[in-house]
Amino acid sequence: MPEIKAIEWEAGKLKLIDQTALPLETIYIELESYSEVIDAIRRMKVRGAPAIGVAAAYAMAMAARDANTTDKATFLEALRVASHRIGQARPTAVNITWGVERMLRLAKQIDDVGQAPDLLLEEAHRIQREDEEANRRIGTEGKGLIPNGGSVLTHCNTGALATAGYGTALGVIRASWEEGNRFQVFATETRPFLQGARLTAWELVQLGIPATLVVDSSVGLLMSRGEVGCAIVGADRIAANGDVANKIGTYQVAVLAKENHVPFYVAAPTSTIDLTLSAGDQIPIEERHPDEVATLGSIRTAAPGIGIRNPAFDITPHTYIAGIITEEGIVKAPYVENLAKAVTQGQGGVRA
Ligand code: MRU
Repeated sequence: MPEIKAIEWEAGKLKLIDQTALPLETIYIELESYSEVIDAIRRMKVRGAPAIGVAAAYAMAMAARDANTTDKATFLEALRVASHRIGQARPTAVNITWGVERMLRLAKQIDDVGQAPDLLLEEAHRIQREDEEANRRIGTEGKGLIPNGGSVLTHCNTGALATAGYGTALGVIRASWEEGNRFQVFATETRPFLQGARLTAWELVQLGIPATLVVDSSVGLLMSRGEVGCAIVGADRIAANGDVANKIGTYQVAVLAKENHVPFYVAAPTSTIDLTLSAGDQIPIEERHPDEVATLGSIRTAAPGIGIRNPAFDITPHTYIAGIITEEGIVKAPYVENLAKAVTQGQGGVRA
């Protein structure tokens, strides 16, 4: 299957597929400073929790390169300022904080500031490699959940574009397909930014996996008619008790799944687990610009003068979740105990 590489380090620059131009155009942008990376994250040219975690790590490596000092205190101060700014680019996905903190921890351990830029760049490469490896393991762990001849529904985009490679929920779908299973895939449009219609649909077409695009509000009908065998989505942050922040509309999918006895799974690397938050209501929810709701592409669709809210994520309580597929295995209730174990065994997560 073709490998989609959304993030690459090339000749001292961060090269990204501009996800706002997909699916009509595949445009690469080259970023030269950490401020440019922050801007790309805010504008969602790069998006998806693991992908923005990786981009944030490269942004820290750029900040280290551009700090231009041999004094350790000055160097660390420059990195702290950068980490704070990068950390605020988007608030919900914990992977940004996780990536930035990991880079900062390493920077503090380096005595020779002259070597720090190279060492931090190596660390960013390692974070990228580890994320792709984690995704492949998530695929292996989860592929048995989609039975041959069945069907699966996914929301938003959780594929290679949203990660360092391969994907989380979409990685599970891909792994099951690669195993030889054949099943029906439903991808929701994912209003208002249309990550499903633009990005998941594009990835599935690239991979050659036949799939059907549906509007978000059709999930109830499809599930009530028994057309959906299971639902698998990604996550932007998982609280210690297993509550999951993910793309707006995920909670509705989970509630409809429970009502219709459809198993609902979350797939995410352990770097998405935040053990410092005991429950989902503590997860910050990003509110984005009203124009994303008021327009379709460049066409205004909402009546001028109407008030608009655009929360980009929602919280699915752990009671709706049949299991969280991580690179350390499928974590099930009791989540407090079992997520803490997965974080200890895995590549990370934010520890309490
Ligand atoms: O606003 P986005 O497009 O960054 O939101 C992405 C999602 O909600 C994904 O489901 C999540 O980040 C997991 S990506 C593997």
